[in-house]
Amino acid sequence: MTKPIKVGIIGAGMAGQAHAFGYRNAMMAVSSRLEVELDTIADPNLLLAESVAARYGFSSAIADVDALIASDVDVISVTLPNFLHAEVLPKVIASGKHVFAEKPIGRTPAEAGQLQALAERSSAVTGVGFSFRRLPGLAALAAAVADGAIGTVHTVRGWYHADYAVDPSGALSWRYSQEQAGGGALLDIGAHAIDAVHFVAGRITEVTNATLRTFITERPLPGRGAIGHGASAPEEHGPVTNDDVALLSVVLESGAVGQISLSRIAAGTPNSLGVEVYGSEGSASFDSISAGEFHLFQTASADAAYNGPRRIFTGPAHPYFTDVAAMPGAGVGTGYAEAFTAEIQEFLRSVGTGTTMDTNFATATEMMNVVGAALESSRTGRSVTVDSVA
Ligand SMILES: NC(=O)c1ccc[n+]([C@@H]2O[C@H](COP(=O)([O-])OP(=O)(O)OC[C@H]3O[C@@H](n4cnc5c(N)ncnc54)[C@H](O)[C@@H]3O)[C@@H](O)[C@H]2O)c1
Repeated sequence: MTKPIKVGIIGAGMAGQAHAFGYRNAMMAVSSRLEVELDTIADPNLLLAESVAARYGFSSAIADVDALIASDVDVISVTLPNFLHAEVLPKVIASGKHVFAEKPIGRTPAEAGQLQALAERSSAVTGVGFSFRRLPGLAALAAAVADGAIGTVHTVRGWYHADYAVDPSGALSWRYSQEQAGGGALLDIGAHAIDAVHFVAGRITEVTNATLRTFITERPLPGRGAIGHGASAPEEHGPVTNDDVALLSVVLESGAVGQISLSRIAAGTPNSLGVEVYGSEGSASFDSISAGEFHLFQTASADAAYNGPRRIFTGPAHPYFTDVAAMPGAGVGTGYAEAFTAEIQEFLRSVGTGTTMDTNFATATEMMNVVGAALESSRTGRSVTVDSVA
């Protein structure tokens, strides 16, 4: 019997809890045997770490992040706010442990590039959590496009619309500070939309225009120990220093053109990441609100009188599905829970086989360079090539 992989998580907030969920459920994989020992959750907020450890069945909780890095766990997830990535990730990489970092890795192209260089010098597995890639519907769409199902792609539209910041009484967490987060909607949720465009249609090489706006310009200071997007009541307010909305026009390496729309104040749309892609022989689309399906239109596939976009329900024929779905039949639906389970399974498989993970520090740097180009384009009003900010 193989030894279980011993797991620690640094950061018990929203993302840390999603990783704990993923490790807890990883062993449901049927395509390969994954054995996990849920060891420690570390967070300076010890009460939170303890409650997350108890909820997901981890053996212990500690406040001291460095003690976890020095312990005998095999893998560490780092799910800390962006401003701590460049401080903590180098220590985890130096420890030789396998690391699964939450996106975006750092706040700027420079930080991401430095972290990538460290990761590439390490012999450990260094993955990054672009969780949306693990949704069977989006993964199946990307595979169909790569297979030529819609011909040569000329236009792509990506979006991430969320409403977590729509309430002005929402606390001024690290997310609303350009200094601490590195970007508002542009980076917090834009990381996923930009990565989804890369995944489906190829690398973005130029940001021809970027419009960034902040509509809720101040918020109440957060209460002690606040995590996630919670409301706050303090009298004292502080300034929001990054974007609520970001609209980008982009050009891809292939010559295709695209638009990416990002908003954290999209009232009525709590959480929608989507991609719509048009090619010489058809089109395809995906929206995480209906994550268990995607749509495909093929110009030549049928009699014109009956042709139209097909709604394809994900099932065992599609990526990740069999390893994460609670029942093995098409149409039972997959969503966030399955995506976090699938990404942890992919990470653990890479650890087990000693192979590079498909979403790694290079993937994250590529995404971050687009964010850097967008910030520069919005500042200068000019078109910016992505390589020029790398
Ligand atoms: N893949 C996804 O879908 C997804 C979703 C949410 C967040 N994320 C990423 O995960 C990371 C964490 O985001 P989150 O939403 O979990 O944040 P959060 O604010 O909910 O939690 C952050 C955690 O870090 C801890 N922490 C440790 N040191 C801290 C310090 N000095 N200051 C503040 N907090 C400190 C806090 O106690 C808290 O438990 C970010 O990089 C974010 O981009 C990814």
